[in-house]
Amino acid sequence: MQNYMDAVKHFAESHVTGLTLIFVAGAGLLGFRRWMAGGVCRSKARLEGKTVLITGANTGIGKETALDMAQRGARVIMACRDMTKAHIAADQIRQKSGNGNVVVKKLDLASLQSVRDLAKDIQENEEHLDILINNAGIMMCPKWKTDDGFEMQFGVNHLGHFLLTNCLLDLLKKSAPSRVVIVSSLAHQQGKIHFDDINLDKNYTPERSYSQSKLANVLFCKELAARLQGTGVTVYSLHPGVIKTELGRHLYPTLASWKKAIVKPFMLLVKRPWEGAQTTIYCAVDESLANVSGLYYSDCAPKTPAPQALDDAAAKKLWELSNSMVGLA
Ligand SMILES: NC(=O)c1ccc[n+]([C@@H]2O[C@H](COP(=O)([O-])OP(=O)(O)OC[C@H]3O[C@@H](n4cnc5c(N)ncnc54)[C@H](OP(=O)(O)O)[C@@H]3O)[C@@H](O)[C@H]2O)c1
Ligand SMILES: *[C@@H]1O[C@H](CO)[C@@H](O)[C@H](O)[C@H]1NC(C)=O
Repeated sequence: MQNYMDAVKHFAESHVTGLTLIFVAGAGLLGFRRWMAGGVCRSKARLEGKTVLITGANTGIGKETALDMAQRGARVIMACRDMTKAHIAADQIRQKSGNGNVVVKKLDLASLQSVRDLAKDIQENEEHLDILINNAGIMMCPKWKTDDGFEMQFGVNHLGHFLLTNCLLDLLKKSAPSRVVIVSSLAHQQGKIHFDDINLDKNYTPERSYSQSKLANVLFCKELAARLQGTGVTVYSLHPGVIKTELGRHLYPTLASWKKAIVKPFMLLVKRPWEGAQTTIYCAVDESLANVSGLYYSDCAPKTPAPQALDDAAAKKLWELSNSMVGLA
């Protein structure tokens, strides 16, 4: 025993620098991981008797959000395009939450007809809608078009949700106090709305398109909040963090192998979907936000978005353009 202790002591003394480095690196990694994990929604708000609709709820942070809403007792409508995946997810959510009031409805945001069909179903069959969560998203896909000929990322991330929200506004107003939560991204900071080439026909890159669509999310939140002042419907946009989900499905296969080698270990440090859902949940239920509208959040706290996301004139111009693109005006 004494010999063993001596040996350990000797080893430690002769490897002080190495051991210190390992310790510091370990503590640093743990600290970094905790910092990445971000804020947690502390609200205990219950949602019995409330209805929540979440787009893209079959996987990723949408699925975690749906589970949380179900655990709070809400009627949860999962609006998804892949009905097989959605029914499997809904089964898991019903089982985990013990809440049987979780339903799946078809929604393909890349089709205005599909958006209108879902909105009609909701208007006709739901007595109220208390929380609408625009979560679904597609990131950095090739130059694809929606059914209606719009560039895919702008079409799904912004236009589809723009139309859906507008079609559901009467029901949301009738249900006030009610909320609209829009999942954007930090990527909006690189964004610019290309008003003269909104579908990026002249100059498509996956990054330019994604950041434009996520900037559109923040501008939509701002303009919608202004238009809904005094109605009891409040609006929030947010960055959920960097989270390990299926969002990288189009980007990852295009990366060079040295980039993949860097990304892989990094993915161990990023948020899990449960952590990634916290800011969405916070915006959807936290009591302290009841009288706040139009702001941008990250890590369960308000944040100042990029200057181009605070541009009133651009928000109005985007509203008019979106209106005419989806055929509302
Ligand atoms: N993960 C991150 O690090 C991160 C960072 C910043 C912002 N965000 C935002 O967070 C949101 C959720 O993303 P996630 O990370 O959870 O990604 P995800 O795992 O890929 O989930 C995205 C969801 O959107 C759905 N969706 C895609 N296209 C659709 C369409 N045309 N119609 C209906 N639903 C569609 C997907 O359905 P399918 O399964 O059928 O494809 C899926 O349910 C997105 O808005 C994203 O921009 C994520
Ligand atoms: C929101 O406003 C209502 C009505 O003015 C008030 O009763 C309530 O306390 C406010 N809530 C918060 C969290 O500020």
